[in-house]
Amino acid sequence: MLREKYITIVGAGNMAEALIRGLLHPAGVVPPEHIAASDVSKERLDVLTQRYAIRTSRDNTEVVKPAEIVILAVKPQIIQTVLQEISEHVDEKKLVISIAAGVKIDLIQEILRPTRVVRVMPNIAALVHAAMTAMSPGKYATEEDIRVAGEIFNAVGETVVVEEKLMDAVTGLSGSGPAYVFHVINALADAGVRVGFSREIALKLAAQSVYGAAKMAIETQEHPMKLRDMVTSPGGTAITGIHILERHGLTAAIMNAVEAATRRSQELGEGKTIFHDLSI
Ligand SMILES: NC(=O)c1ccc[n+]([C@@H]2O[C@H](COP(=O)([O-])OP(=O)(O)OC[C@H]3O[C@@H](n4cnc5c(N)ncnc54)[C@H](OP(=O)(O)O)[C@@H]3O)[C@@H](O)[C@H]2O)c1
Repeated sequence: MLREKYITIVGAGNMAEALIRGLLHPAGVVPPEHIAASDVSKERLDVLTQRYAIRTSRDNTEVVKPAEIVILAVKPQIIQTVLQEISEHVDEKKLVISIAAGVKIDLIQEILRPTRVVRVMPNIAALVHAAMTAMSPGKYATEEDIRVAGEIFNAVGETVVVEEKLMDAVTGLSGSGPAYVFHVINALADAGVRVGFSREIALKLAAQSVYGAAKMAIETQEHPMKLRDMVTSPGGTAITGIHILERHGLTAAIMNAVEAATRRSQELGEGKTIFHDLSI
C-alpha cells in the first residue's frame, strides 16, 4: 500500500510541490510524516515544511537512505551529479522514479546499477491536479512499481503507460500541450477583444470554452468530431468559423507543431542546444 511507504523527493521545486500537494490533499494518499524532500535551498525547504509538515534536508543522501520510493525532480542538467551522490544509498529495495525531461532510463541505470526505475513525464497542469503523465518502466521495474508510480501521479491528474521510445513524442504532445492551448486561449481572447469585449471578459469566454470542451471530450468519451457535429448546424456560425480555421491549415499546423516539438525533444536529449531542424 502506497500509504505505508516512505517517499523522498530530491529537488524541491515546482513539480515537487505539486506532487506533495497532490499526495496530501484532498485525498491524503500518503501521510505527511511519510514524505521527505531535499534541495540546495534552505529557504525553499523551510517553506515546504511550514506548508505541508513534511521532513526536509539539504543533504540528499540523508533523506534518500530511509526512503522506499525516491522521486528525482531536479533539472536534467544536474541529474548525473545527483545520481552519483545518492548511488551508494540506492539498492534493489528502492523504487526510483525520474521526472527529469529527456533523461533516459539507461543513463540512470548506468549510475545506479540494476535499480527498479520508472521514468515519467508529467505536465504543468500538475499544479491544478489536472496533469497528464506518461510512464515508462525500466527493465528491472515490476508491475507493482508501475502501479505505485501510477498511484502517485494519479494524485495530480491522469496517467498512461508508454514505451520509453515514445517519451519524446509525449513531450511534443502532452508535455508541450498546455503551452499550445495557452496560445490558443490567448488567440481566442484577442479575437474577443477584436469583436468588442473587454480583455477580462474575452479571456473568461475563451478559457471557459476550452475548459468546457475538454471536459466534455473527457467525460463523454465521444469522438471529438461527433461532439463537434453537435454544435455545427447547417449553414451556421460554427461551420463558418471551422471553414476559416481549416483554410489556414489548423489541423496541419497542429500536427506539424507536435512533430517538430517531438524532434526538438530528441535533439535536446542528444545535447543539441541549437535548433537544427527547421524542415517542417
Ligand atoms: N515543470 C514542469 O512542467 C515539468 C514537466 C515535466 C517534467 N519536469 C521535470 O521535472 C524536473 C523538475 O522541474 P521543476 O519545474 O520542478 O524545476 P525546479 O522548480 O527548478 O526544481 C528543481 C529544484 O531542484 C533544486 N536543486 C538544484 N540542485 C540540486 C541538488 N544538487 N540537489 C537537490 N536539489 C537541487 C533546485 O534548486 P535551485 O532552483 O536553487 O537550483 C530546485 O528547487 C525537471 O527535471 C523537469 O525536466 C517538469
